[in-house]
Amino acid sequence: MTSSAKPDLRVRFCGIELRNPVIAASGTFGYGVEFEDIVALNAIGAFVTKGLSREPMPGNPPPRIVETAAGMLNAIGLQNMGVAAFIAQKLPAVQKLPCPAIANVFGDCVEDYCAVMEALNAVEGIVAYEMNASCPNTERGGMVFGTDAAALYELVLRAKPLARRPLIVKLSPNVTSIADMARAAADAGADALSLVNTFLGISIDAKTQRPRLANITGGLSGPAIKPLALRMVYQASRAVSIPVLGMGGITTTEDAIEFMLAGATAVQVGTASYADPRAVERIASGLRDWCQRHRVDKLASLTGAMDLTPGLIS
Ligand SMILES: Cc1cc2nc3c(=O)[nH]c(=O)nc-3n(C[C@H](O)[C@H](O)[C@H](O)COP(=O)(O)O)c2cc1C
Repeated sequence: MTSSAKPDLRVRFCGIELRNPVIAASGTFGYGVEFEDIVALNAIGAFVTKGLSREPMPGNPPPRIVETAAGMLNAIGLQNMGVAAFIAQKLPAVQKLPCPAIANVFGDCVEDYCAVMEALNAVEGIVAYEMNASCPNTERGGMVFGTDAAALYELVLRAKPLARRPLIVKLSPNVTSIADMARAAADAGADALSLVNTFLGISIDAKTQRPRLANITGGLSGPAIKPLALRMVYQASRAVSIPVLGMGGITTTEDAIEFMLAGATAVQVGTASYADPRAVERIASGLRDWCQRHRVDKLASLTGAMDLTPGLIS
């Protein structure tokens, strides 16, 4: 690798080119427009909307979020305004934002997923669909699809022909073999994969002897899950030939680089935005400097480039 004053930070996957690989993750960045005055959106790669369903959803009763050691548990329950309200009330502003928008979609049956995508097919201003086949907090949101390879295959097989845009399938980490789930989605026609969603967990207050979340269980995210997520991105990216978007606990520029070395083409940043609302911009902005210091001309060359030479592993 040679030193470069101006490293190339662009990445490409399923026909989409991003100025850099750092994407704000679904559920942690609203519908994008809410962050317009907080984050320099022209400095990040893209953002993913909050999950959109056919009808509006109120989500689970509170408390819905609890802090844990090095992370958080959430049981929001996919609260959202519904796809029609999104198109009417948010999309006009989304279309004017200086970064691409990816729409996260979910449902509790195949027809629901298809209905949301068909509504979005009719409008402009979205570059891809991210199909949430993995939310642990509700029977909706695809937990059934996310943990059963045959059900996931069937969902993707039926949804893919309807999608006018590239279809990214978001996988659950709550499975025995992430490679099997990755293969099922890829074999059914997914254009890319994103992983991981949150890990199912529980927090209990010993003093009150009660669960801290009204839903009892929630999804664990943040730095606590990073090694698990890295392992899954590594395994999934080796199992398929389609691009993988990696996430799970990314908080620094170095974390993002690690996910690329494990096999990710691009990365997503979620929980870090809760502690630092500008985290996505900070992580993206650090890439140029990181590449210069490490003499990397093309950031995309790091994807899957973890050095496994025997004897070098410390
Ligand atoms: C409060 C909250 C809400 C979320 N909502 C969604 C959602 O609507 N759809 C989805 O696919 N993932 C959702 N996620 C999962 C994140 O997009 C991401 O996959 C996960 O949190 C791991 O990344 P992180 O450790 O950087 O947060 C949510 C996560 C959090 C913390």
